[in-house]
Amino acid sequence: MFESFKVPKDLIPSDPRFGVGPSLIPIEAVQKLAQTGHELLGTSHRKEAVRNVVKEMQEGLKTYFKLPSDYEVVIGNGGATILWDMIGLGLVEKSPLHFVCGEFSDKWFRANQNIPWLKPEVRKVEFGKGIDPVAVAGHDFLACTLNETSTGVMLSELPQVGSDTILAIDATSGAGQIPIDFKKSDLYYFSPQKVFASEGGFYISIMSPKAIERAQKIARDTSRFIPESFKWAHAIENSRQNQTYNTPAISTIFFLNEQVKLMNKIGEEGVVKEAKRKAELIYGWAKEKSYLNPFIEEEKYRSLAVATIDLDPKFKADDLANALRLQKVVYDIDAYRKLGRNQFRISMFHNVSYENLEKLTKIISLAVESI
Ligand SMILES: Cc1ncc(COP(=O)(O)O)c(C=O)c1O
Repeated sequence: MFESFKVPKDLIPSDPRFGVGPSLIPIEAVQKLAQTGHELLGTSHRKEAVRNVVKEMQEGLKTYFKLPSDYEVVIGNGGATILWDMIGLGLVEKSPLHFVCGEFSDKWFRANQNIPWLKPEVRKVEFGKGIDPVAVAGHDFLACTLNETSTGVMLSELPQVGSDTILAIDATSGAGQIPIDFKKSDLYYFSPQKVFASEGGFYISIMSPKAIERAQKIARDTSRFIPESFKWAHAIENSRQNQTYNTPAISTIFFLNEQVKLMNKIGEEGVVKEAKRKAELIYGWAKEKSYLNPFIEEEKYRSLAVATIDLDPKFKADDLANALRLQKVVYDIDAYRKLGRNQFRISMFHNVSYENLEKLTKIISLAVESI
């Protein structure tokens, strides 16, 4: 199906990248990195030139998120997946409660199930439904996912937790575009290859004083084995000096910093406003066409960053995604593989322009309506 469909010239997007993981890295940022010549790539991350970029990025994130002055931007190598283990080993005391609404929130839960001394519990909804995290007595740690990348569900509210509980948020694909009240959050982390338009293999973890104290408390428990490279003390200490514990990919930090600067030009309110405009476009189109349907029924849970749109089973979404990829006009709009739905998953991240999203809707409509 769709093998003979040809995208008309006037509908070809200026950039084919619509994927949600990883996402579009602006060509301008790549060129800017090339122009730094000998100054950054291939030099030491412990020297001033690289540390200045790291510092600018950390300060830029503090400005962007309007962080309370005692919150810290802790960074390191490995990405969100590695953090799941680092968090389980070094920030959870005993009993984390996980709110699961898709594959990624489930993976985080399973990561904690692997740690013998933890007793993780789970509240889970059918994938495609939204979830509302709540504080529950007896849990020292709440694990929430701001934007479930597999299903396109976002959180609509955060609970207020007590002084003995850490509220942790995996913000990987929502950070920057789905605002939260940071005063409620103790640990807010993400990998930068989504809204922050960089490469993977790196993490940013925004920690409240309570989260730092928790890390210090657990570190004092000498009966708990924590591998050296997973120790929060190293990450925190190095981040305070605008460094990572071990050698990072400098290009990742460079792209991240470029994106933070770009987004700071219009600020979080401006970015969120644009995201809402894109969401109205995509979900509005899906409601209007009889052969499309937003996967997430309840509007308040429909993501502002990742749109999941079901296609009538008479048409094959994967076949269309493949046909568009072969023409090199649209990449990576396939559904999350394990979800197994006849669906398009579309990035509404900051660097994917409204105009290109509009063209994508027209391409899909034209293709389906020409069958
Ligand atoms: C919500 C969420 N959490 C965690 C991850 C894992 O991130 P990484 O691949 O950078 O480890 C992803 C990746 O897409 C994600 O979307």
